[in-house]
Amino acid sequence: MPRVVHVEPVEVVRREIALGERFDFGRNWRRFLALLNEQRIAGAEQSLREMLGGDALRGARFLDVGSGSGLFSLAARRLGASVLSFDYDPSSVACTEEIRRRFFPDDAEWTIRRGSILDREFIRSLGVFDVVYAWGVLHHTGNLRLALEIVADTVAARGRLFLAVYNDQGIRSVLWRQVKRAYCSSTVARWLIAALFLPYFVLGGLVADLARRKNPLDRYRAAGTPRGMSRIRDWSDWLGGLPFEVAKPEVICEFFDRRGFRLKRLTTCGGRPGCNEFVFVKDRPAEPAA
Ligand SMILES: C[S@@+](CC[C@H](N)C(=O)[O-])C[C@H]1O[C@@H](n2cnc3c(N)ncnc32)[C@H](O)[C@@H]1O
Repeated sequence: MPRVVHVEPVEVVRREIALGERFDFGRNWRRFLALLNEQRIAGAEQSLREMLGGDALRGARFLDVGSGSGLFSLAARRLGASVLSFDYDPSSVACTEEIRRRFFPDDAEWTIRRGSILDREFIRSLGVFDVVYAWGVLHHTGNLRLALEIVADTVAARGRLFLAVYNDQGIRSVLWRQVKRAYCSSTVARWLIAALFLPYFVLGGLVADLARRKNPLDRYRAAGTPRGMSRIRDWSDWLGGLPFEVAKPEVICEFFDRRGFRLKRLTTCGGRPGCNEFVFVKDRPAEPAA
């Protein structure tokens, strides 16, 4: 008789990381937590307000898909939402729990779970939400298409979906995937790739800032980094972020249009590497399947 072996999620994720199939997001987020301050939280709140509209979170049910550090769950909670955060990586879940412990201990309006957006049953058990936030997550699941389908079902009628998905740069995206594979393959490769690319990132920023007559040091300060993030942690996430998929903005827009979502805001990264950001409103029924 076949023996059923129960494998803990933490072991599955550890094995994927050890095999070089998955970036160690949790470790990156743990390092980010050491940099967390009031300015970064204000930056995260501002990014939510700008894209979703001033008071959109007051009294809303907010789902943070792939919560990572937990910073955006915290920002949404401070803006008046009740929050459900989940992440696939147990170390990211622990970071989100640590942020809740620091800022909202014993808060009944903020629930944290460990789970995957690819797990339909788990997602169905969560219900539907007024605002669903999946920033930089679905392209790291290993199945972007399925993740898009499942996330669409989490949005309540007239609810909003705030997504960020890596831009498709054709052959350049293919080459970046090779860099990420190499980065995740071993510690030595990680150090070599960091030594190769970090000077390139630093110099690129320096040239751009000098051309715009900006202080080059500002980009490394909390107030100078978009969304309250950290440049160094973002670079590490970019160099290692596996699994890695990409999509053109028009593909994402068409996908959600067919499912009854209207595009409310779009910020593209202008053909450069990075994420396109979308805010959709679910305001009509999905088209019948062909
Ligand atoms: C680049 S981070 C983004 C974190 C956060 N959303 C933010 O904006 O800072 C990607 C996160 O997605 C999580 N993730 C990857 N696959 C996932 C899945 N199948 N379900 C849920 N979370 C996932 C990773 O563990 C990681 O914490």
